[in-house]
Amino acid sequence: MAYSEIYKKIGFQRELNRLQKQAYFGYDREIKMLRNLGVEDENLILEVGSGPGFYTKILLDNFNNSEVVSLDNDETLLNFALKMLNKDYSNRVSFMNDDITNSSMPNDYFDIVVARFVFQHLQDPIKALKEIYRILKPGGKVIIIDVDSELWGLTYPKNNLINQLNSSLSKFQSSLNGNREIGRSLLTLMKLLKFKNLNIEAVINHSDILGKENFKYNLDKELEKDPRFGNILKEYNDFFNLNYSSIMILKLFFYGEKPI
Ligand SMILES: C[S@@+](CC[C@H](N)C(=O)[O-])C[C@H]1O[C@@H](n2cnc3c(N)ncnc32)[C@H](O)[C@@H]1O
Repeated sequence: MAYSEIYKKIGFQRELNRLQKQAYFGYDREIKMLRNLGVEDENLILEVGSGPGFYTKILLDNFNNSEVVSLDNDETLLNFALKMLNKDYSNRVSFMNDDITNSSMPNDYFDIVVARFVFQHLQDPIKALKEIYRILKPGGKVIIIDVDSELWGLTYPKNNLINQLNSSLSKFQSSLNGNREIGRSLLTLMKLLKFKNLNIEAVINHSDILGKENFKYNLDKELEKDPRFGNILKEYNDFFNLNYSSIMILKLFFYGEKPI
């Protein structure tokens, strides 16, 4: 599935806004987690599925002297990232229009591969993992940040709304050949493909820490009319108007190393 199908359906600017918000939302905890998992300043990092480059900027700003290769198979998003980052980071970032299931990257090359919210979009995650294994240096580390639908959002008070939203988002993802239940399979696939020192961690966005308003959907008239999401999103937004409601959203970090 071409990622452009998503922004053709929901609108390019809306998708940019969504990705920007999603990149910065709780990013400081993600950076701490990446450091805990061994990402260091001065690493050579491949960022798989870098999209419009908001997370690329976060990596460049937080890992001093690191060099980031941003790989994506969507030329429009890559060009957006290039325009945004090339001026200030030209000596530390480069852009590759490439497919992670069949890339032109050299063998044994990168210290770190980071893939954030990409695997849920892939039709063939095994092929992508094999490719990542090939291009990592021996001893190199892969960190996949992704979700699993059933672990994604827990509301207080418990309510069925989140299940409906999850189910609609999962159906939408499947209709585009993706898989929003990717989380449960990733570590096992990594084990089967011979990654070592496997680990899994979670970073949690909680509405009582990050502010309820930030968890609401940006609903405009057009989205409100959408038969798949309109009503659910409106109800979801209303949920945050209760003074005692809250939500926690789990971002899962899957870790493995290529053996030396
Ligand atoms: C949800 S965006 C994530 C962007 C960024 N990683 C972030 O966290 O903000 C997913 C990105 O993965 C890219 N992508 C999907 N399939 C890909 C593939 N086979 N090879 C390379 N990139 C891919 C899409 O083009 C899109 O830019």
